[in-house]
Amino acid sequence: MTNPTRARITVPTLAQKKARGERISVLTAYDATFARIFDDAGIDVLLVGDSLGMVVQGLDSTLPVTLEEMLYHTRAVARGAPHALIVGDMPFMTYQASEEDALRNAGRFLQNGAHAVKLEGGVPMASAIARLVAVGIPVMAHVGLTPQSVHAMGGFKVQGKTAGDAERVLADARAVQEAGAFSVVLEGVPQDLGARITAALTIPTIGIGAGKDCDGQVLVSYDMLGLTPNLRPKFVKRYAELFETARAASVAYADEIQRGVFPGPEHSFGVAKASDTKPVTEIESGYGPKD
Ligand code: KIV
Repeated sequence: MTNPTRARITVPTLAQKKARGERISVLTAYDATFARIFDDAGIDVLLVGDSLGMVVQGLDSTLPVTLEEMLYHTRAVARGAPHALIVGDMPFMTYQASEEDALRNAGRFLQNGAHAVKLEGGVPMASAIARLVAVGIPVMAHVGLTPQSVHAMGGFKVQGKTAGDAERVLADARAVQEAGAFSVVLEGVPQDLGARITAALTIPTIGIGAGKDCDGQVLVSYDMLGLTPNLRPKFVKRYAELFETARAASVAYADEIQRGVFPGPEHSFGVAKASDTKPVTEIESGYGPKD
């Protein structure tokens, strides 16, 4: 639902929120229906995350997700979210090989409804980030546990646990800020490192498994809603158990079909009346043109 009194969240809005000490809420979204729910709930930022490879496509990692798939989901989310800032997640190998790739592919996200892009990597990605920012493409960076480097990390492992590794993650965060990123996701780092980086940066930090002191938090929406019952990472809080709710509804549906209870008369079409000016299917189905 578009609310004319609610302004669109923009990149500058996030900077203002950090300056005012207001926390930023971020959720992943992959389609128009969930985008509408999260937007209506007042979530600030919807990230069309490449995590869709795992939670929507059933893959083991985000690596096979393609640009065209991400753009398809970005268009769907954009249609459902009139108020949130929409960030498109650049998939593996759409920005690493060259800055030209990064520019061309980031531009496609903006042409498909995103207001900004996210990409993974710190110091090594700083010059690509600077190129994007220079042509007006806002960049959310992502450091710490970077899922596209799953094989280099030897799994989805917490980063920055030793003093030396913590310095590396801090240097990554400083580098992306210096390059012009408007915010940075801190994933899978100890709480004290999340706090330290948040205090050191002027741009907002968005934590996921990075403790309570980040300027904002992001979760994979399917995890937060309890749609991924076999995944129980420590950093996820489940605010609903939608897998169970949807399963129970599906069992009830199948049962009512077996028993001949559904569809009832209230779900069945009648005969058109002489006074009807539109075809009966348009009047009663709810899928006809809206006047
Ligand atoms: O793809 C994704 O969902 C993400 C978030 C977990 C930050 O990158």
